[in-house]
Amino acid sequence: MPTSQNLISYLIALYPRKDKAIGSLLRALPLNPTTRQVLGLTYGEQLAYLQKLWDFNQKHQRLEHSDASSLYAGQKTAGLLRRFNQLPCTLATRKARADLLSGRDLKSSRILILGDDDLLSVELSKRGFKQVAVADCDPVLLDRIRRETADCPTPPRIILADFHKLDQLEEVADVVILDPPYSSDGARAFLNLAISLAAPQATMYMMVNPHVLAAAYQELNSIAVQSGFRLSERREGFNAYPIGTIPSIIMRLAWWHYMRLPLRKTVGRELCFFSDCFEFVRG
Ligand SMILES: C[S@@+](CC[C@H](N)C(=O)[O-])C[C@H]1O[C@@H](n2cnc3c(N)ncnc32)[C@H](O)[C@@H]1O
Repeated sequence: MPTSQNLISYLIALYPRKDKAIGSLLRALPLNPTTRQVLGLTYGEQLAYLQKLWDFNQKHQRLEHSDASSLYAGQKTAGLLRRFNQLPCTLATRKARADLLSGRDLKSSRILILGDDDLLSVELSKRGFKQVAVADCDPVLLDRIRRETADCPTPPRIILADFHKLDQLEEVADVVILDPPYSSDGARAFLNLAISLAAPQATMYMMVNPHVLAAAYQELNSIAVQSGFRLSERREGFNAYPIGTIPSIIMRLAWWHYMRLPLRKTVGRELCFFSDCFEFVRG
């Protein structure tokens, strides 16, 4: 008689298999790209990813309500369906990202943000950076950035662009910050664009979870190195993203299933997805 744990393992293993009818049904579920990517990993990779997320969630203090509440209060779908794979980070993460640039010249630093559901461009413009450009495919998000920076002496330059359809922009940047989606095509499109716009001595900050990308992360790293970048620092668990109700339930079930963690251990906690900050320097 199969146990429920065995049945779940069996179903999860069917997900990446192209030849099974149930696999096709599972793949038809309206899951976000990150969940799809995780389901396509090997059992060992899934376990390593969940273990890391558990460790980070253990270390992360309980979030203050104002910090945990999404930067998009009005757009909640319990976290299951995410527009353009958006998942805004905590306010503390946004500040920590802006702190990475403290010490840089406010007037002359050319900063480019590729994908900005975290509203980093707003934070940087409020801190007085005069040459911030932000590119994203979401016009609603860009309108919000425009509104929130209307009072800044120098608001960011706003560029509406789909990075899958375009591989060049009229920009040169000393600092490029990218927060790519978790599909290998999507991540590659973001990175190639970042590389093409980075100045000869540029610094590039790439926010990704290498456990989710698995082999695709090695490919991203090689693309950066072949383009003259050197990894100068990796900040593990740098970015925290509060997740919605449904992903929280799925995460708790996954910990129970893979790590045999009792559900009561994870009840009533504000859960986060985490990613690392990879700092690359060119030249
Ligand atoms: C990809 S999302 C961030 C992913 C998130 N960190 C996560 O954990 O899944 C970052 C931003 O990229 C934008 N974005 C997504 N796909 C894009 C595309 N093809 N072209 C331009 N921007 C895109 C989204 O609108 C969003 O604001």
